[in-house]
Amino acid sequence: MKKRPSGFWVPGFQYPVEMDPSVTYGSYLAVDELLSLQRPRSEGPEHDEMLFIVIHQVYELWFKQLLHEVDHAIALLEAGEPHRAQHTLKRILTILKVLVAQLDILETMTPLEFQSFRQRLEAASGFQSDQFRQLEFVLGNKSRAAIDRFGANTRARAALESRYGKPTLWDAFLKYLAREGYAVPKESLSRDVTSRIEPSAALQDTLIDVYRKDPKHAEMCERLVDLDEGLQEWRYRHIKMVQRTIGAKIGTGGSSGVQYLATTLMTPIFPDLWEIRSRL
Ligand code: HEM
Repeated sequence: MKKRPSGFWVPGFQYPVEMDPSVTYGSYLAVDELLSLQRPRSEGPEHDEMLFIVIHQVYELWFKQLLHEVDHAIALLEAGEPHRAQHTLKRILTILKVLVAQLDILETMTPLEFQSFRQRLEAASGFQSDQFRQLEFVLGNKSRAAIDRFGANTRARAALESRYGKPTLWDAFLKYLAREGYAVPKESLSRDVTSRIEPSAALQDTLIDVYRKDPKHAEMCERLVDLDEGLQEWRYRHIKMVQRTIGAKIGTGGSSGVQYLATTLMTPIFPDLWEIRSRL
């Protein structure tokens, strides 16, 4: 038993093991580096640019965590650990709710406040978030074009390339259901994982069976629907936020803005889980 040498901790408290005193809150979390990463480009700088940078950086960190958790959920399904996979799905949903709620903060920024620094964003746009695309990829919305937007030998491109050929969360779930004895169609189990998830009538029959006879697995299907709905909710809230901030202006990423974003709405990640609702 060794008493810690300085005044950061409760006096007299005996730590059970020798600890490294160089590990502090600041060093462990790299706080100095973290706080040096907010670099406004506007003259002054404009007050609201700090919020804009911080909120995007926070989103990127949450995207990182979401990818970490979705990868974990896939690994747990592959390992035949449904309870832990479901626990992980619950965490993913809780993070998604925070992602949606955070848009409220950005909506406190008025169109004129955004206008004060918007030009300094040049062509930068959330459209170029490779982690958002990675998330779409791991959930089943893959596209070669999304990879080709990133330059050769970049971290972003390598990450997307690596995810492109890998099975998605949906593939892991279907394989798990098949191992549990469900009649998952062969075409669904051996589908091309680089293409979008297409609805399958035969698979829907099996899913209806799950819902009617197997509350445990029906519950897991519902968590996947929550995830799908959560992402659609984020898209909807993002569009409304964009609309109230820039109206019908074109995006800094070069798209038609709200008009383009509207095309991404109401597109489910797991179409079969939505199709079966009217037959249940
Ligand atoms: C004032 C705030 C914001 C405005 C005005 C805005 C505007 C836009 C626009 C116009 C687009 C379409 C692409 C383009 O032409 O640029 C877009 C896409 C996107 N934005 Fe935002 N955005 C804002 C905040 C955010 C935040 C906080 C995030 C979080 C990371 C974000 C993430 C994205 C993503 C991921 C896309 C691509 C969506 C897709 O292609 O499906 N945006 N944004």
